[in-house]
Amino acid sequence: MADIGTDHGFLPLYCLQEGLVTRAVLSDVNEGPLKRARETMEGSQIAPERYDLRLGSGLSVLKRGEVTTAVIAGMGGELIASILAEDPAVTDSVKRFVLQPRSRSGQLRSWLWENGWAVRKESFAKERGRLCQILCVEKGVQTPYVYPDIPESEDPLMLEFLDREIVNIRIITENLRRSNDPNDLAAAEAFVRKTATLEKRREELWRNSFS
Ligand SMILES: C[S@@+](CC[C@H](N)C(=O)[O-])C[C@H]1O[C@@H](n2cnc3c(N)ncnc32)[C@H](O)[C@@H]1O
Repeated sequence: MADIGTDHGFLPLYCLQEGLVTRAVLSDVNEGPLKRARETMEGSQIAPERYDLRLGSGLSVLKRGEVTTAVIAGMGGELIASILAEDPAVTDSVKRFVLQPRSRSGQLRSWLWENGWAVRKESFAKERGRLCQILCVEKGVQTPYVYPDIPESEDPLMLEFLDREIVNIRIITENLRRSNDPNDLAAAEAFVRKTATLEKRREELWRNSFS
């Protein structure tokens, strides 16, 4: 596996320690984080031949077909999409991506859909109170999302995710409604429809949680 933007390197260390992968590439565009990753690995019991530390941006650190799985976590959805778009030959040589967008996940989903990547599994994780989406994607076709940023997940944290989205969208809608610009008012109406869809989904999940 490769962990792109590894920072402290905790994820590849865990994967190696647990025997989930045989070898790992740890990469980061910045020297400071890569130094932290080196310290993590050198302080562990993992043999040096089982990992490589590489300085560089995105997937440029990889040769075509070098890894089965690449993780890109803890970055904005737009940045993740731009990393995936940079060199299609390398991107398409990776079997599976595990992506954790911290923002703009809808833009990432649109990019994935347009470029023939299908979400195979999705879940949530909570880190210091922050809810994060995690997408596991592989090459394939999927039905387009009507609203690209509503996950299909049945994860127990999905209810919390929807609550957060509904509150955020209501705040945006109220701000747009204060504007005199007809485009803003039209956008507000689109957000009202989106809120209704989110609320419907929330209710379904809530009901299912009792059955
Ligand atoms: C918030 S940290 C996330 C660290 C870790 N992946 C995680 O999820 O906990 C983001 C890391 O991505 C690195 N980064 C940002 N842009 C990058 C790029 N284009 N290529 C590789 N690494 C990048 C940053 O230097 C930083 O170490």
